[in-house]
Amino acid sequence: MPKAPNPHKLRPDNKKTLLPIALAAQKNAYAPYSGFSVGSAILADDEHTYAGCNVENAAYPLGQCAEAGAISAMILAGAKKIKEVLIASPNQDCCPPCGGCRQKIFEFCDQDTLVHMATSDGKVKTVTMFELLPMAFKL
Ligand code: THU
Repeated sequence: MPKAPNPHKLRPDNKKTLLPIALAAQKNAYAPYSGFSVGSAILADDEHTYAGCNVENAAYPLGQCAEAGAISAMILAGAKKIKEVLIASPNQDCCPPCGGCRQKIFEFCDQDTLVHMATSDGKVKTVTMFELLPMAFKL
């Protein structure tokens, strides 16, 4: 049985560009409550990159995830779509986007958009948006 082409292998390797940008953002994370610093970097349709870090708050639910910060920066700059996104974890397990961030990323990408998850020791796991959020809600 012939195998379908792997969509992850047919594209340029943008995770190498995004990783150092997410790591630089992660250094500025404000995570005094969880101690869990996250960085995120987006490659957008304007070919620019946008970064974000998590920003926590003493009123815990007001904290913002790294992905949300990167999306805000992208939209503020006038870019419209996420081509690829990378999330940098503070430890040796990758940090899959939380449920809310999956929906936030989905708003600005396609089902086959690549989502990269990097560990602190530089391993990167890549999945598609569809793998993260099948049956996504949209209007
Ligand atoms: N966090 C992110 O920034 N992105 C995620 O996708 C998962 C969680 C942050 C939120 C909070 O500041 C800390 O990680 C612990 O949950």
